[in-house]
Amino acid sequence: MNTLNIIRTRRSTRNYLNKSVEDEKLQQVLDAGRYAPSGGNSQTTHFMVITNPEVMETLIQLVQQEFAKMEVVPGMYRSMVHSIEASKSGNYVFQYHAPVLILTANQIDYGNNIADCACALENMMIMANALDLGSCWINQLKWLNENPIITEYLHSLGLDQTERVYGAMALGYADPLNRTPLKRKGNKVTYVK
Ligand SMILES: Cc1cc2nc3c(=O)[nH]c(=O)nc-3n(C[C@H](O)[C@H](O)[C@H](O)COP(=O)(O)O)c2cc1C
Repeated sequence: MNTLNIIRTRRSTRNYLNKSVEDEKLQQVLDAGRYAPSGGNSQTTHFMVITNPEVMETLIQLVQQEFAKMEVVPGMYRSMVHSIEASKSGNYVFQYHAPVLILTANQIDYGNNIADCACALENMMIMANALDLGSCWINQLKWLNENPIITEYLHSLGLDQTERVYGAMALGYADPLNRTPLKRKGNKVTYVK
C-alpha cells in the first residue's frame, strides 16, 4: 500500500485476537512514535509499553473502580458517560482486551505535551496498519491523569513524578481487521490561491 492508502485504511480496532504482537513489529510501531515531530525538538514523550497480563488486568480493574466512583453530570462528554455507566455495572474494559497498551506521557509543565503525544500516537497507529495490526486511541488514562490512585499505580510502573499520561493506544491483531475508510463528513478544506 502507498502511504495515503495506509493512512486512509487505518481504522479503530475494538476487538482483538488473543495473540501477542511480535517484538519486531512492536519495535517498529514504537520507532514510528519516537520519530514523530515534537515542539522545539523536545523529544520528551515517554512511551510506556504494557504487555504484562497482570499489570494490564490491574490497570483495567483500577480504571473501572475509579470511573465507578464518578457521577454522570448534564452535558458530560458521551464517551465519558459510557465509561462511568459501564464501570458502575462492573462491565468495563477500557482497552478492549488488547495485548499491548502503549501510554504516551509527557512533562506536566510543557506546553506541547498533548500535541507531541498526539503526533506520536498517530504515527504509531499508521505504522500498526502498515504491519497488519489493529490499534485504537485510548483516552481514559488522560481523563484520569489527575486521579491519585491511577497516578500512584503508574508511578510504580515507571511514570516520572513530573509527567502525566496524555493519551494511549491499544495494539494487537484485530478480529477482524476492518480497513474500510469512514466517509468524510467534515474536515472542511478552504483553498486560498
Ligand atoms: C483524541 C481522540 C480520542 C479518542 N478516544 C477514544 C477512546 O477513548 N476510545 C475509543 O474506543 N476510541 C477513541 N478514539 C477513536 C475515535 O472514536 C475514532 O478515531 C473515530 O470514531 C473515527 O473512527 P476510525 O478511527 O475508525 O476512523 C479517539 C480518537 C481520538 C483522535
